Amino acid sequence: MNETKKIDERRTIVLTGASRGIGHATVKRFSAAGWRVITCSRYPFSDKCPWPMGPEDHIQVDLSDPENLGYAVQEMRKRLEPHGSKLHALVNNAGISPKDDNKGRLDSITTPMHVWRHVFQVNFFAPIMLGRGLFNELKNAGGSIVNVTSIAGSRVHPFAGTAYATSKAALASLTREMAADFGPHGIRVNAIAPGEIDTAILSPGTEKMIDDIPLRRLGRPDEVADTIHFLCTSPSSYVTGAEIHINGGQHV
Ligand SMILES: NC(=O)c1ccc[n+]([C@@H]2O[C@H](COP(=O)([O-])OP(=O)(O)OC[C@H]3O[C@@H](n4cnc5c(N)ncnc54)[C@H](OP(=O)(O)O)[C@@H]3O)[C@@H](O)[C@H]2O)c1
Repeated sequence: MNETKKIDERRTIVLTGASRGIGHATVKRFSAAGWRVITCSRYPFSDKCPWPMGPEDHIQVDLSDPENLGYAVQEMRKRLEPHGSKLHALVNNAGISPKDDNKGRLDSITTPMHVWRHVFQVNFFAPIMLGRGLFNELKNAGGSIVNVTSIAGSRVHPFAGTAYATSKAALASLTREMAADFGPHGIRVNAIAPGEIDTAILSPGTEKMIDDIPLRRLGRPDEVADTIHFLCTSPSSYVTGAEIHINGGQHV
């Protein structure tokens, strides 16, 4: 008897920084909407993860290591092959914001150069390596890229350091450049710039900033995930090269 193998017709997203915070909320949002979510983080898949995907949809990768990232991109492409080599969304969410030994802000005078390079590799070079490495798969699906920038990319922030802020400003600029380059191939490229979202990346004292936020509260990771989902689906089909503020009005 001829058995037809069932093809997985779900839309697929590759998401970095999936293990915590905004990334974790994004896994849940896309998963609930029926997407296949290929998660990436530095550690193996945990049995405690609540969503229905298993280790087969998890890729262990250290974005600070370009060689390791190169192998991970090959692995992603291999895993997309049985699904027509189609990728519907790439979300560059992983990011780091190092502090000094006393958990203080690293400014442009004190940041050691190796820290600067490390931050740029994770926050800026990894997104371009992933976007280029998965270009054909994104093109095959008419896919969408979302880069996660930050309010710190456009103004000096009391806690976020200089290397972090400049890497996010560079990522915002890269989003514009990629939108121009990838657009003719049917790939949209947008950014979201969160303000103060309630995750582990926040510094102690952030709650004092609430008085200056028009909506008078921190944001929730699921609110960010909803906007990422919007940018990866048809309601935003004519939106590219945009950077959406998700900050309760903090930028005003
Ligand atoms: N929360 C905010 O208020 C806020 C504001 C503005 C912008 N953002 C941006 O939003 C994004 C998510 O932030 P978050 O608050 O959710 O951060 P988070 O809770 O600190 O999570 C960071 C994620 O990045 C991953 N990651 C860190 N270094 C990595 C590396 N070398 N290789 C691979 N993965 C790595 C971590 O995974 P593992 O540790 O498991 O590897 C983790 O999943 C970041 O880009 C951040 O800059 C956040």
